[in-house]
Amino acid sequence: MLGRLNHVALAVPDLVAAATKYRETLGAKVSAPQALPEHGVTVVFVDLDNTRIELLEPLGNASPIAAFLEKNPAGGMHHVCYEVDDIIAARNRLTADGARILGDGEPKTGAHGKPVLFLHPKDFFGTLVELEEA
Ligand code: CO
Repeated sequence: MLGRLNHVALAVPDLVAAATKYRETLGAKVSAPQALPEHGVTVVFVDLDNTRIELLEPLGNASPIAAFLEKNPAGGMHHVCYEVDDIIAARNRLTADGARILGDGEPKTGAHGKPVLFLHPKDFFGTLVELEEA
């Protein structure tokens, strides 16, 4: 069911500082910031040869990463994103196995314009997992 690693997402308290560090110090290709109000984050993509890193900063009052940054004020790894061919088939297989989907269980449009779902971290060994239809 799982395909490629699409990205690893890092929550950061200061997106400009994080993007600058990745661009200047680490010499990475870094995108312009993109606001995603539906997801409560502003995101910068770091393009690597084999995958991407997403740098996430809270956007708005109800950001899903605000609580994470309160617990991890310096920032930290927030989720991993795996590609699947068919997100509805993946969701049905996972829920049949007892896994919990965050939110209303319906895919949302993610940062790359593709449908995404998030799986409860308690069902996946403490790591928040995002699935993205490839
Ligand atoms: Co993501």
